[in-house]
Amino acid sequence: MKILFLGDVVAAPGLRAARTYLEREGANYDVRIVNGENATGGFGLNRKHFLQLRDAGADVVTLGNHTFDQKETPELLEENARLVRALNYPPGTPGLGATTFETSAGTRITVAQVLGRLFMEPMDDPFRAVDALIEEVGTEHPIILDLHAEATSEKKVLGWHVAGRVAAAVGTHTHVQTADEQIVQGTAYMTDLGMTGVEASSIGMAFEEVHYRFTTKRPMRYRAATGRATVCGAAITVEGTRATAIERIRWTEPLDDTSS
Ligand SMILES: [Fe+2]
Repeated sequence: MKILFLGDVVAAPGLRAARTYLEREGANYDVRIVNGENATGGFGLNRKHFLQLRDAGADVVTLGNHTFDQKETPELLEENARLVRALNYPPGTPGLGATTFETSAGTRITVAQVLGRLFMEPMDDPFRAVDALIEEVGTEHPIILDLHAEATSEKKVLGWHVAGRVAAAVGTHTHVQTADEQIVQGTAYMTDLGMTGVEASSIGMAFEEVHYRFTTKRPMRYRAATGRATVCGAAITVEGTRATAIERIRWTEPLDDTSS
């Protein structure tokens, strides 16, 4: 089974590039997963953008620490089993932290997400959350984990914690692709898939306002960067419940794709 996982889609250029890539390359995969938590202007995911990603071929869209930035999201989560927020939100949070479905290859798969706690909002323990998930899902079909966390150390340790127990544990959130893709005890691991958005930016936001805030210590509203976007992610090969290969993906849209 071949799995495509695209890293954090940021704002309109990221959405445009993600949709183009899914439409061009998606048929080469059995499962297509996209982190969409920054797709709506950089902050959360509204209904329109969720449906655009689904229409382009995304089987599952994952969220993150910006899950509730858009007012439509609680309802969207309740209605859609293919939209996944982190497992370690408090009990009673709308939506699913893990979703299980049958792939086009005819096998079942579970896609889940946990949020890290280092340099982020306090959450329930991600380690215990993944342990409970693995116990519940069992060993019959593969689990793909989105590790949405700020600190490399926390992602590395979460990856080590689940090694040999899930098919893949790949990082999102920091928006800069890491070059450490590897297979550890049958688990595909990579610290960060990278961003799907404008690389000439401050992790998706235009430089000017971010620079102003850093240099003056005064507030200014961020503005999403515009221009040519790069798709970042990974292609993961799974046999049974374990990964056999992981390859980094990095594709920059042609100049003639950037007008829309
Ligand atoms: Fe995030």
